[in-house]
Amino acid sequence: MTKTSTIREYIAANADAIETALAQSLPVNWEIPLALRDSMSYSLMAGGKRLRPIFVLAAAEALGGSREAALPVACAIEMVHTYSLIHDDLPAMDNDDYRRGKLTNHKVYGEAMAILAGDGLLTHAFYSISQAHKVHGIAADRVLAITEELSVLAGARGMVGGQAADMLGEQGITKLEELEYIHTHKTSDLIVFSLRAGGHLAGASEEHLAALRKFGHAIGLAFQIQDDILDIIGDEKKLGKPVKSDEKQQKVTYPYFIGMEASEQKIKELTQQGKDALLQANMNNPERLLQLADYLMQRDH
Ligand code: IPE
Ligand code: IPE
Ligand code: MG
Ligand code: MG
Ligand code: MG
Repeated sequence: MTKTSTIREYIAANADAIETALAQSLPVNWEIPLALRDSMSYSLMAGGKRLRPIFVLAAAEALGGSREAALPVACAIEMVHTYSLIHDDLPAMDNDDYRRGKLTNHKVYGEAMAILAGDGLLTHAFYSISQAHKVHGIAADRVLAITEELSVLAGARGMVGGQAADMLGEQGITKLEELEYIHTHKTSDLIVFSLRAGGHLAGASEEHLAALRKFGHAIGLAFQIQDDILDIIGDEKKLGKPVKSDEKQQKVTYPYFIGMEASEQKIKELTQQGKDALLQANMNNPERLLQLADYLMQRDH
């Protein structure tokens, strides 16, 4: 990919590479109940923007890391993200029927298999990360750092904690800080992981890793506020998931809390904050990360 390709071309080319790697990620010779294999691959291969894995590749690239070796880690975060969506859509959680333009996993495979597909994807993510060392020779200490961060950022202190607070919050959130906690964990944490994993793969310094955290936290919050706005004014066809899901579940969101205009303003501020943190860190090649931040601010799906 040339440096002059547009950000849309960059995203499309990387999403293609990720899809090819994802399609091969579950070894064909593993004996797995067919319904489970089908259910896992149904959601994993259903499309989606592939934003988080693209962040892994772009962060590695920003710091001179190998793109090839970054692919299994990129696949891993997409597996964790996909599992979080399968579970998020379950009747016990947001109870949604469509995802990525298709029926949700539990609508096709039933709740039991949907839960297990999520479990399978989450677990396989750690296998995939280990392949960065075994197949691509990334130093074991870097892979260990990535594994530790995924355990924290995807787990009870991270995304799962955010989802739990989101569920508890349906009973009424009264403070903006509570909402920020939810967004930070349910959404920013996987984005922070993706960026820092790219950094670790490239052997990033502590200073660069800290900048990636700040960048990821800010644009992750902006991303979830935009998700909440699109839930109100988005186009179901483009989104591939139902709108008005938050209202139906009585979620308190940024637009609900501070209004539409202030939410849009907040997205701009957070995006700028994120970009500033990155620019101050003087990376070799931060262009794509900066472009991705701007691109996300204008997204309609
Ligand atoms: C949806 O994430 C869940 C949120 C954290 C808002 P995405 O908007 O990245 O979903 P896909 O991967 O493109 O389907
Ligand atoms: C989901 O947030 C975040 C995670 C799955 C971790 P939402 O519930 O707002 O996501 P969508 O709108 O269903 O994609
Ligand atoms: Mg939810
Ligand atoms: Mg949801
Ligand atoms: Mg949403």
